[in-house]
Formats: sequence, C-alpha cells, structure tokens
Amino acid sequence: MNIILLGPPGAGKGTQARFLVEERGMVQLSTGDMLRAARTSGTEMGNKVAAVMDAGELVTDEIVIGLIREQLEANPDQSYIFDGFPRTLAQATALKELLADMNLSLDAVIELRVRDEALIARIVGRSTCANCGEVYNDTTKPIPADGKCSNCGGTEFKRRADDNEDSLRTRLMEYYKKTSPLLGYYYAFDMLKRVDGLADLAVVKAQVAEILKSVD
Ligand code: AP5
Ligand code: ZN
Repeated sequence: MNIILLGPPGAGKGTQARFLVEERGMVQLSTGDMLRAARTSGTEMGNKVAAVMDAGELVTDEIVIGLIREQLEANPDQSYIFDGFPRTLAQATALKELLADMNLSLDAVIELRVRDEALIARIVGRSTCANCGEVYNDTTKPIPADGKCSNCGGTEFKRRADDNEDSLRTRLMEYYKKTSPLLGYYYAFDMLKRVDGLADLAVVKAQVAEILKSVD
C-alpha cells in the first residue's frame, strides 16, 4: 500500500508518518528529511537548496522528483508513505507516471486539515530528537522532564532553521499557492480522504488507521 500525507507545514504529517512506520512497517519518504540530510552531509545539492529551504520556499521539482525516483527504484517492494511530496502539480504528475511505470499503486491521499493559527503555535514549539527524529512540541508533547527522548533515551534535541514566523509565512503561502491545488487533483481521482488534524494525536492516528483499513 502506498499513501500520500498532504497538509500545510505543521499539520502533523511527520508525526503520523512515524506512527505508521512503527505500527505498520511502512517506509516514510519525507522529501524535507531527505533535503535536510543532504544539507548535513554537505553534498552539492544540499548546499544549493539550503537558502531556499530556510526562506520557506519550495526547491525545484527536478530535485525532489529525482530523490523520490531514486528511492522507489532502489526499493520498489516497500509500502510507502509520501510525506511532503508531491507539493506541486508537476510533482503529482511525475509521481503518477513513476508509479504506473513501476506497476505500483497509490491507495489514498490523506489531507490533514489544520487552521493557520494552530500551525504557528505548533511550528514555533516544535523540536525533534537529534538521534531518532521523534517529534516533540513545547505545549502538546513536551520533552520528558528527565530530558531524555521517550523513544531512544537521547538527550540532544534540535529546532529547524525554517521554524520561525517569517519562514512559516512563506511556507504557508507556498502551500496555498502551489500545493493546495493538489486537493482538487486527487479529489477528481476520488482518492482524497480528509482528517481533522486539529484533534488530539491519538484521535488523528485512529482516523488515519480507519482510512487505511477502508482501502486495504
Ligand atoms: P518539510 O520538512 O516537508 O516541512 P513541512 O511540509 O513544512 O512540514 P513540517 O515538517 O513542518 O510539518 P509536519 O506536517 O510534518 O508536522 P509535524 O508532524 O512535525 O519541508 C521543509 C522544506 O523542504 C520546504 O519548505 C521546502 O523548502 C523543502 N521541500 C520539502 N519537500 C519538498 C517538495 N516536495 N518540493 C519542493 N520543496 C520541498 O508536527 C508539527 C508540530 O505539531 C510538532 O511539534 C508536533 O508534535 C505537533 N503536532 C502534530 N500533530 C499534533 C496534534 N494532532 N495535536 C497537537 N500537536 C500536534
Ligand atoms: Zn530519540
């Protein structure tokens, strides 16, 4: 089974993807994580996209489509969660063609709906474990009082360079301008499923599980 998690920055895509990885053995393909990894390892591509990401703009279709193609071609038999991809109509069309060429299906597109004011609080309060990537939030899921990650015991946590109000404003603009047309695109294919992303983590998780059951 292959699914897309669609939603604005801070909607909870990464958080829900991690649940699906842990509980269903699916593989998370986050283009954001791949791009950040390229930056950390200092590749030519990573250096090229750094400023664009920090400003909150989208990197080129060509780069992200290339990243996804590489992963799919290397391991076509996994069950994938596309997290943060596709983000433009060109990316959606490329994914459709890629999956068709490889005889793979797309089973659901899950939209996590959250209003803008809530996104700001979520993004500004977010941190992640530097060791395992577990996602925390100052308000809704604080780092344990002993300062240790509940998943791996790690003690180092980081905040993203683009998690500030200025970049977030640009990220939201990019979302509404370039990514939200995908809602109509997938609706027309009868693939779009909507989830109230404002609900508690466990409630969102249960709603996503219901959807997966219905398309399994
Ligand atoms: P990317 O890494 O994809 O970031 P994003 O889409 O902005 O999404 P986020 O990771 O910020 O949010 P999320 O929805 O995963 O939320 P999370 O689960 O962490 O992209 C970053 C940049 O890379 C882009 O700006 C662009 O430059 C580039 N890029 C990436 N992909 C690209 C592409 N395809 N094309 C072009 N450029 C691309 O949750 C957020 C917070 O909320 C956390 O603190 C969490 O604990 C909390 N939270 C989550 N769910 C709940 C809940 N139900 N209740 C309460 N709190 C919650
Ligand atoms: Zn950890």
